Amino acid sequence: MAATLASFCLLVLVAALAPHRAYASIRSSLGQKRAAAAAAPSVGICASSVLVYGYQCQELQVTTQDGYILSLQRIPEGRHSNGTKKPPVLIQHGVLVDGVTWLLNSPDRNLPLILADNGFDVWIANTRGTRFSRRHTSMDPSDPKFWNWSWDELVAFDLPAVFDFVYSKTGQKVNYVGHSLGTLFALASLSDGKLVDQMKSAALLSPIAYLSHMNTALGVAAAKAFVGEITTLLGLAEFNPKGEPVAQFLNALCAYPGVDCYDLLEAVTGKNCCLNSSTVDLFLKNEPQSTSTRNLVHLAQTVRDGVLAKYNYGRPDFNLMHYGKFSPPIYNLSNIPHNLPLFLSYGGRDSLSDIRDVELLLDILKLHDVGKLTVQYIKDYAHADFIMGLNAKDIVYNQVTAFFQQQQ
Ligand SMILES: *[C@@H]1O[C@H](CO)[C@@H](O)[C@H](O)[C@H]1NC(C)=O
Ligand SMILES: *[C@@H]1O[C@H](CO)[C@@H](O)[C@H](O)[C@H]1NC(C)=O
Ligand SMILES: *[C@@H]1O[C@H](CO)[C@@H](O)[C@H](O)[C@H]1NC(C)=O
Ligand SMILES: *[C@@H]1O[C@H](CO)[C@@H](O)[C@H](O)[C@H]1NC(C)=O
Repeated sequence: MAATLASFCLLVLVAALAPHRAYASIRSSLGQKRAAAAAAPSVGICASSVLVYGYQCQELQVTTQDGYILSLQRIPEGRHSNGTKKPPVLIQHGVLVDGVTWLLNSPDRNLPLILADNGFDVWIANTRGTRFSRRHTSMDPSDPKFWNWSWDELVAFDLPAVFDFVYSKTGQKVNYVGHSLGTLFALASLSDGKLVDQMKSAALLSPIAYLSHMNTALGVAAAKAFVGEITTLLGLAEFNPKGEPVAQFLNALCAYPGVDCYDLLEAVTGKNCCLNSSTVDLFLKNEPQSTSTRNLVHLAQTVRDGVLAKYNYGRPDFNLMHYGKFSPPIYNLSNIPHNLPLFLSYGGRDSLSDIRDVELLLDILKLHDVGKLTVQYIKDYAHADFIMGLNAKDIVYNQVTAFFQQQQ
């Protein structure tokens, strides 16, 4: 567990921070930016990344059942719209990043604007704790209680709140795009019977449900790190990758004898084939974003246990108190409706969404209705290519667009 958590923290950071060659800038950005980390930005995603290209964009807010106020951007149409009713698409990022990561490439190369230009009404989600989703009806982010959640709450509250909102505003079932952990939240929600009546179809990029093959890539470093470090450093509160404690933690880990973070990075992210260094620089200016430490602990459990289950309180009696049983309930992926149109795209060099884990997911989905499951395998792609690859339009986004068009 201990080694797994630490390695997972590194891993998600690294995955978020993309290519191995950017490591020098990772370190410096971790160092330089900590002062600005928690400050609320004055310019929203619409103003910084959408309106400037001549698209319409609205900043909206959704309040979850447990009180978190999430920001949501809507790009209602493309540049050459003819005013007809547009099918909605909701786009969900993964962990430690926010919605802006979709918009870093030029407009003709990024997914939201490509979808808008192809006649879709595009909505971009921002998970609780990230830069634009740090408000709550009664708590402040400086309060550790604000961070007392794991991905169970994203499954139970964030996604359903956003789906309800888009569904009620558009009066139409919602097409979904998730990347990385954005796929896991949706799969888990569907397994619990949520979103089912409001989802029209889903495109899952770098899909993650099982994470058991991630460890292996980490080898020695994982064995040497331990969970005590991260929880005593941070408590179970905010995990701010730009903050001093996390930077120290990473530096300490990288300074262990025999641990070479340069190699490690390449080992864990996989080699992204197709990133533009200017886009990566822009990425590092915007990301990574905070999440809760409890979320990372839960993810580490998911890695360790090899099943999709709720947060484990670590003691049978605590689990009994919270769940009425000694171990946490599982999310049963067999419950996903067999007739839900799914498009899965995964990469041969992606070490976060490891091929063997994707195969486990595909095995569960083998009972899916014939014709309702489309699978794309891209040999050269790693994790970040799916959101920032220069050729992602030709390789992935055109396929996603065609898939959604078939559903309308
Ligand atoms: C309007 O645009 C949509 C989406 O691009 C297209 O499907 C539809 O045929 C167009 N309608 C007209 C009247 O041009
Ligand atoms: C965090 O939430 C759990 C329920 O999930 C609760 O048992 C616990 O007391 C909370 N901790 C804090 C510090 O609020
Ligand atoms: C990388 O991005 C920059 C900035 O958008 C652009 O000027 C440059 O042409 C891009 N490089 C390639 C190879 O497309
Ligand atoms: C998951 O659901 C399927 C179908 O409802 C059932 O056959 C299977 O036993 C369940 N798996 C677990 C681990 O509960």
